[in-house]
Amino acid sequence: MIRASLPRFGRFEAWRDAARILASARIAPGDVTWGDPDAPADLFGADPMPAPGDAPVTASRDFLDLARQVASHSDPERFALLYSALMRLQNDRGFLSNPADPLQDRLSRMAKSVRRDIHKMHAFVRFHELPSDGPRRSFGAWFEPEHPILEAGTPFFAKRFADMDWLIATPEGIARFMGGPVSFDPPAARPDLPDDASHGLWQTYFANIFNPARIKTNAMRSEMPVKYWKNLPETRLIPEMLNDAPRRVQAMADAGASIAPARAARVTARIRQAPDDAVPQSLGQAGEQAARCTRCELCHAATQTVWGQGDPQAGLMIVGEAPGDHEDLQGKPFVGPAGQLLRDTMGQAGIDPDRAWLTNAVKHFRFQPRGKRRLHQSPDGGHIEHCRWWLDLERRFVQPRLTLALGATAARALTGDSSALTPRRGGVERALDGGPVLISWHPSLILRLPPDRAPAARAELLADLQTARRMLAA
Ligand code: URA
Repeated sequence: MIRASLPRFGRFEAWRDAARILASARIAPGDVTWGDPDAPADLFGADPMPAPGDAPVTASRDFLDLARQVASHSDPERFALLYSALMRLQNDRGFLSNPADPLQDRLSRMAKSVRRDIHKMHAFVRFHELPSDGPRRSFGAWFEPEHPILEAGTPFFAKRFADMDWLIATPEGIARFMGGPVSFDPPAARPDLPDDASHGLWQTYFANIFNPARIKTNAMRSEMPVKYWKNLPETRLIPEMLNDAPRRVQAMADAGASIAPARAARVTARIRQAPDDAVPQSLGQAGEQAARCTRCELCHAATQTVWGQGDPQAGLMIVGEAPGDHEDLQGKPFVGPAGQLLRDTMGQAGIDPDRAWLTNAVKHFRFQPRGKRRLHQSPDGGHIEHCRWWLDLERRFVQPRLTLALGATAARALTGDSSALTPRRGGVERALDGGPVLISWHPSLILRLPPDRAPAARAELLADLQTARRMLAA
């Protein structure tokens, strides 16, 4: 009987090398025992490993992937089974694709169980902060997997926590990452790991995702098997939360259903309409299509599309950022406080707001709900790109002789240049479609400025509007 000894770590590679030699010498599976470093020596002694033989040995990549996973299983027969499979493969290449074959079935189930255990390790290792002398923070964790998966499970942590030092201790051994490659040591006594602030965070997270009205204890046990609970800080909350669940469900029922906001029916009706793909032939058709726009996710929460308004023949197009709360509810641009400031300043500059085409770079309101309030958020680059379709169409039909860009979003949508506005304000740039674009401040910026700075900015907006009027008259 040949005894092939395998080390505690690097076992798969050692098995692969030994199996290749044994198979090349056509040693039968029954003539080999595969020994762990901790296993007792054979009572009757053992033959040494033979020299490599002449027989060719082939193993597909799929088999080696499977073998690597099976090598992390706790079954003491795993290496013998793998060697039997390797020997069978030499004459029967197809057996691994036969799900009815008992050996392939056993190996597949072992690999699946290992993959699941690795997945659980990635989800359930909980680090505790340890004292550190150096510049890097230091963490330790204790984990009890079902299989010896320490080696297979740690590359994930090395990638994710490369900026800290850590160790993961298991009954099988210890993985250490100290700023370099992961190293492995034999097992030691379970370290004494203190609770730290992150454990409170785990508990808060768990308490927040726990829905007392949807308790499915079997599903919970399957997702978070009980054997892992003792090392998870959040599971200490489970008994109390289960006890308290009926009271919380009753409180929810007593509070009654929340009523959908008035605009919800309009939003649903709009989104249910089928999009119209034909390229619009007029400004009116473009506006009708834009009303059903679902090009980006902003349409889901906004009340409606806010299309441009005013005089399309006037020669002046004024482009803002996006509708705000008032514009969203009324469906018209520049009707809120910033719009009022713009309209007043236009009046001062001698431009009738009804004798310009007022619109926005992005046609849907972007906001963050805070209780009953909707806090304005600027659209991002993606929203600007999606909405450029509508702005381009609008410009094709309006054909402005001059465009006034209010703020950085409008300047970016019109010129493609996202650089800072301060050095550009008051200048005339070229639109992506070729026309002149005068750059100015957005009125809502002026509204947000402190009282000592707002008048100067407003004077600059006025000066820019006067410039626009002169340019149009010229
Ligand atoms: N701000 C904008 O950019 N556009 C509006 O329509 C209103 C406020």
